[in-house]
Amino acid sequence: MKKILVTGGLGYIGSHTVVELQNTGFEVVIVDNLSNSSLDVLTGIMAITGVKPTFEELDLRVKEDVSNFFNRHSDIDGIIHFAASKAVGESVEKPLLYYENNIGTLVYLLQECERYGIHNFIFSSSCTVYGEPDSLPISEDAPIKMANSPYGNTKQISEEIILDTCTVSEIKSIALRYFNPIGAHESSEIGELPIGTPQNLVPFITQTAAGIREQLSVFGNDYPTPDGSCIRDYIHVVDLAKAHLMALQRLLSDKNTTDFEVFNLGTGKGSSVLEVVNAFEKVTGQKLNFKIVDKRPGDVISVFADTTKANEVLGWKTERTMEDALDSAWRWEQKVRNI
Ligand code: NAD
Ligand code: WQD
Repeated sequence: MKKILVTGGLGYIGSHTVVELQNTGFEVVIVDNLSNSSLDVLTGIMAITGVKPTFEELDLRVKEDVSNFFNRHSDIDGIIHFAASKAVGESVEKPLLYYENNIGTLVYLLQECERYGIHNFIFSSSCTVYGEPDSLPISEDAPIKMANSPYGNTKQISEEIILDTCTVSEIKSIALRYFNPIGAHESSEIGELPIGTPQNLVPFITQTAAGIREQLSVFGNDYPTPDGSCIRDYIHVVDLAKAHLMALQRLLSDKNTTDFEVFNLGTGKGSSVLEVVNAFEKVTGQKLNFKIVDKRPGDVISVFADTTKANEVLGWKTERTMEDALDSAWRWEQKVRNI
């Protein structure tokens, strides 16, 4: 049984990926510092898979603790590295926190990979590396634009650090550039649980429907798009999680063609904010209180993925619709709020 370290495995995407790993027979070790998650997630994972993953509370910023962890777990076969800070706005306010948490931790992990001969490394990247695209859909070879936030910059720099490391070591890596992950596990045992006011669209929608937020603000309706609102590629988190499994298997079976590969993970379909709102109302039967407000600074007008490479090379395709994701997100919200 292969042993996989999942950093940030109690978080939103990490927890869904742990489920897929355990359901496929991998042994999982999670490390997380609980800065944006809770121990309850372990119960949810266990309820779905029947297996409690090994968990160690660990702050990856503490180099000595990271070293000690690997002393005890030198038999790890691969790492999926989710742990990071991810709030774009906060990264503008606290850039050093983001550089330390997203880049420092990556360096420590890669050092341990070199030290213990751990050669398989999956990295959580983001479509944010593309900035405002020149053409759509965006493929992996689109130019990387100057990042418009420290958060985005950490993902660009991280990819460069991994590439440079793979070039001179035996480490092989796949960076997965996620578009907009939404939804929850169909069991409603795990899902997205933002701390404080949600920054992202779908948790804000579900919290508004649940009565926790008074009104959704739709940021702008005069963009040059068919209905004037911004367009994104919303991907179901379970489809996203399954892609990690395929990427890991690709590395473990030496199917990768270069030591550092990059894949877009999206649906390939763009949806506007107003389309998401309408779809939510239709799928859930909930009337959503929303108003159009000013544009949010820094928003890209339209972005969606060219998924050809992930489809053809990774052999992955999405199986769930945006409606499935919105339905699962709403069922999760209802469960969390006892509605
Ligand atoms: P999340 O915040 O739910 O999960 C991240 C987890 O990492 C949390 O459980 C947190 O407690 C943990 N963590 C953070 N810093 C840590 C540290 N120093 N040591 C140990 N654990 C630490 O976020 P998510 O949405 O699951 O995102 C996972 C990854 O995917 C991140 O790298 C994020 O940048 C990337 N990503 C997310 C999105 C998105 O929209 N959710 C999109 C693109 C990329
Ligand atoms: C989606 C759309 C908003 C909230 C962010 C990061 C990106 C990636 C994914 C990590 C936009 C609109 C939102 C609201 C709204 N994360 N919106 N009202 O900005 O596409 O991407 O998360 O890598 O890096 O930037 O996602 O969910 O915030 O916004 O109208 O209350 O919804 O303007 O058009 P975004 P989002």
